[in-house]
Amino acid sequence: MTCAYRCGNACAHEVPNKSDNAYFGDILEEVVSRRGLLKGGAAAGIVLYAGTRASSSLGAPHAGKRNGELTFDPVPPNSIDDVIVPADYDYDVLVRWGDPILAEAPKFDFNHQTAEAQAQQFGYNCDFVAFFALRGRGPRYSERALLGVNHEYTNSELMFRDFDPTGTSEEDLERIQIELMAHGISFIEIRKRRRGGYRLVRDSEWNRRITATTPFELTGPAAGHSWLRTKADQSGRWVLGCLNNCAGGQTPWGTYLSGEENFNQYFVNAGAVAGAAKRTSYERYGFGETLPDFGYRGWERTEERFDLAKEPNEGFRYGYVVEVDPYDPDSTPYKRTALGRLKHEGAETTLTDDGRPVAYLGDDERFDYIYKFVSSRRMAKGDGRKARRHNLTLLDHGTLYVARFNGDSPPEEIDGSGELPNDGAFDGTGSWIPLVTEDKSHVPGMSAAHVLINTRLAGDKVGATKMDRPEDIQRNPKNGRVYAALTNNSERGLPGEAPPDEANPRTENLHGHIIEITEDDDPSATRFRWKIFMLCGDPDDPSTYFAGFDKSQISPITSPDNVTFDAAGNLWIASDSSRALEQNDGFFAVPVRGKERGYLRQFLTVPFGAEACGPLLTPDQKTIFCAVQHPGEVEGATPENPASHWPDGGQPRPSVVSVFKTEGDKRIGS
Ligand code: FEO
Ligand code: CA
Repeated sequence: MTCAYRCGNACAHEVPNKSDNAYFGDILEEVVSRRGLLKGGAAAGIVLYAGTRASSSLGAPHAGKRNGELTFDPVPPNSIDDVIVPADYDYDVLVRWGDPILAEAPKFDFNHQTAEAQAQQFGYNCDFVAFFALRGRGPRYSERALLGVNHEYTNSELMFRDFDPTGTSEEDLERIQIELMAHGISFIEIRKRRRGGYRLVRDSEWNRRITATTPFELTGPAAGHSWLRTKADQSGRWVLGCLNNCAGGQTPWGTYLSGEENFNQYFVNAGAVAGAAKRTSYERYGFGETLPDFGYRGWERTEERFDLAKEPNEGFRYGYVVEVDPYDPDSTPYKRTALGRLKHEGAETTLTDDGRPVAYLGDDERFDYIYKFVSSRRMAKGDGRKARRHNLTLLDHGTLYVARFNGDSPPEEIDGSGELPNDGAFDGTGSWIPLVTEDKSHVPGMSAAHVLINTRLAGDKVGATKMDRPEDIQRNPKNGRVYAALTNNSERGLPGEAPPDEANPRTENLHGHIIEITEDDDPSATRFRWKIFMLCGDPDDPSTYFAGFDKSQISPITSPDNVTFDAAGNLWIASDSSRALEQNDGFFAVPVRGKERGYLRQFLTVPFGAEACGPLLTPDQKTIFCAVQHPGEVEGATPENPASHWPDGGQPRPSVVSVFKTEGDKRIGS
């Protein structure tokens, strides 16, 4: 069900990357929160997953020594319908789907939802979370903040009773409008509570809803291009709404970035579009010739723009990184074409030594690419109006690159089994291949605008490395290395598909991996070295690898997705699709240096059928936010027969929770 609604069942379709772009072959119980156990275990009647790995074998409790050392007791794999946190931790639901966030918003009523209400309430399926302090920056300023949260997609079968995807009654059409309003982004003011965690400030003047109908300005070199013009927008510069916003980024200049991911599945009739170039492009992005195979929303019943037979360019206006200034609730949100058009996962940023922003970008599709944008402009310091105005131009000017990974071991040693080659590592060198700089294309036969609108086709031409579904990619501020989550690729090495290579070394990679990238000099470098940090899965599976750490201590993990770092540089990972290991998804933490490098432990688990998103630590390190996306989303679930009752015992509601420590050192992970 998640597959159908979130990504239009991308995995059931043909792989869209058919390019022959040269294959560079070288190239429990005692350690979980009591509250969780009582609440979840008793209410849902679900028992802890009786895995082979007893909780007691998972890491001995630590005494808490070195600063930044992770000392929490791991949460064992389970299928409990609740958020389960380690001993000495607790959690609270901060905001749920439907909670009123604007002043006039009505109370949520599952059975009588309206589009007008939804436009003022928290949206569905929360995903990326960012924290914008309202006074000052740094650890001391964690008391009062704006939380930016995007809403990736809707699931009509769980949001509505007796859903009819082809109905045209007034109620059916109203439901489409509700779904449009449940997409987008929410900004909410939050305040820290004395006992830990945060509370929502319901009618704060900062609160804002952006939906699938909010006007966005297209900016950067492709804005205004003929492929971006429609009947409703002959300038090619104004788009209604953002779609399928997945992960994102928080810029050093205090703005919110969010990637439009599986935007293709909202549209119908790509086969009716005139012009071979446009049809080829739509095919490369996985648009359906007529209807999408799965997850059909039928929005064209009321919003003609989603019918490409009627509005052939509308599909080119989605698939961008969007930027929003959260400190100005009336500001125009932007779509930044300079960062390319792809199934954008995240857009985490860092600064070069001379102060120019760099954004790391993943295209989350099997065999698609990793990108990087390097701005040509320096960030202005300070929060004055002039500086903020300048900084809102940074992502319109720069160079977009795509990554090529070269292995250093003989190709015959990369046999798809996951067994390390003779030099003891899946590693090598790599390069960032420039695609476009401002309005100058580096790709033969493609203009700058075409590179930015058809970025995948540009990547095909220059021989980028086909990756196993790139998700979050982020620079660790402590060691300067970049960590890229590759979530999985069930088709790697199958007949007709790209074989394993050293950067994607497993055939039918069901559980994904994480690559550690060390860039030469600084983040603007065009060359790098890389090494696989972790091959995920059940540690009993011989194809797994955890930076060489003793696997008997490791928590099972599959499908790494979102990542973040704590102040000590430990890597935090959210998982997506843990049903592949018959356990709930969760957060994991792992040191990247010292004796415990690779010692991965599960920090929390999310309710049944949910995916763990976020994760985000507050500047004071005393709260970690988890966006609990799609609780209860399993095949066959309906409002009459929900698979989850989280968080309140009724219908499942996607929600953001704040997790905090109740005993001892209050820093998360300590
Ligand atoms: Fe929305 Fe790539 O996960
Ligand atoms: Ca090697």
